[in-house]
Amino acid sequence: MRILVFTGKGGTGKTTVAAATGLRCAENGKKTLMLSTDPAHSLSDVVSVNLGDHSPKKISENLYGLEIDSQSLMEEKWEVVLKYLTQLFTARGFDKALASEMVVIPGMDELFSLLTIRQYINDYDVIVLDTAPTGHTLRLMSFPEVLGSLGRNLVELEKIILEELKPLRMLLPVSLPGADVQKVTDSLIEEAMEVREMLVDPTITTVKLVVNPEKMVLLESMRTLTFMNLFGFLVDGVVVNRLLPDEINDPYFVRWKQQQAEYMNQIDEAFDPLPILPVPLFQEEIIGITLLRKVADALYHDKDPTDTLTTERPFQLVQQDNGNYELIIKLPFSEKRELSIEHDRNTLVIRVGKYKRVLYLPTVVRDLDIEKANFDENELKILFIKE
Ligand SMILES: Nc1ncnc2c1ncn2[C@@H]1O[C@H](COP(=O)(O)OP(=O)(O)O)[C@@H](O)[C@H]1O
Ligand SMILES: [Mg+2]
Repeated sequence: MRILVFTGKGGTGKTTVAAATGLRCAENGKKTLMLSTDPAHSLSDVVSVNLGDHSPKKISENLYGLEIDSQSLMEEKWEVVLKYLTQLFTARGFDKALASEMVVIPGMDELFSLLTIRQYINDYDVIVLDTAPTGHTLRLMSFPEVLGSLGRNLVELEKIILEELKPLRMLLPVSLPGADVQKVTDSLIEEAMEVREMLVDPTITTVKLVVNPEKMVLLESMRTLTFMNLFGFLVDGVVVNRLLPDEINDPYFVRWKQQQAEYMNQIDEAFDPLPILPVPLFQEEIIGITLLRKVADALYHDKDPTDTLTTERPFQLVQQDNGNYELIIKLPFSEKRELSIEHDRNTLVIRVGKYKRVLYLPTVVRDLDIEKANFDENELKILFIKE
């Protein structure tokens, strides 16, 4: 069983790449489900089959697809909690419409979509996940933490109500978080933990970032890589989509080609040691099986898309007993060499001779000072301390 996740900014080509991957897996004889959790569905259009939102539909031999209606799934599953929270806010004087907006946690709807993986895990050899654009997915990916804090918040809210409104409580149309709410949040946390277990198991799940050779896309993808790594997901490759092919020599595209080459360099610096999978810009929109097959050729050649391309993690962050952090970064050199490190708010630039690596820093160390850096046996260890 394998779960292949594709993520990246909107419009970079996630759905296209996910569909091409699903198709290749199916044509290799694996029973494959393509699952879209992005509310902006387009899988149906790409494969020209109207996919359902309740159960998978067959697209071709071995290939199935499902576009989940995350909004209604959430409303159905989370109803008890939403009702309770809405009541709580209205009781404190909020307008009902406003209250029902306030209680929706961003990314919550997509969380429910992800939970449906549990239903399909035993029926398919491969599940290909086409996820929502970076921001939302990230929040989701940390879900046990989010849910944990949600659970705590409910308890906190209950306390506030009990304390602040004690004298009025009898008059309020509010029931405190009762057994129902508790049951729903508990089972949700349990299910989420179960799915998370599968997603952070590198023998089951690997994640590929989909990027374009453009400035805005790059920075966001670096951030995604850092968070994915922190949350324990194995990112095993970066798909660089929409590269202008070499044979394009039209002077109109000269500047575009130069810029793409520059961004290719930056991609190497930002994602090393991850393998890069280049995909050219095609002559038309990618719709239908024939074009998807071509995308799959560009991505995988004759390799199996379920192969894991690397198990190397870009960095490790270890919190020490005294609260300081050690950042451990693998570098492709074994001998000690001239090393320089620049540190600005978001990024760390490491230079070893001609080699340059740019790392988007995890939030916790961003405002800390570097006390020392040691380079030994392929590993750079950087100690971040509080002032
Ligand atoms: N390599 C490519 N060459 C040509 N068109 C592409 C390529 N990759 C994606 N597209 C087109 O770009 C649009 C956006 O791609 P899509 O896969 O839907 O992006 P996302 O899912 O990341 O929002 C689609 O119309 C798709 O056909
Ligand atoms: Mg999409």
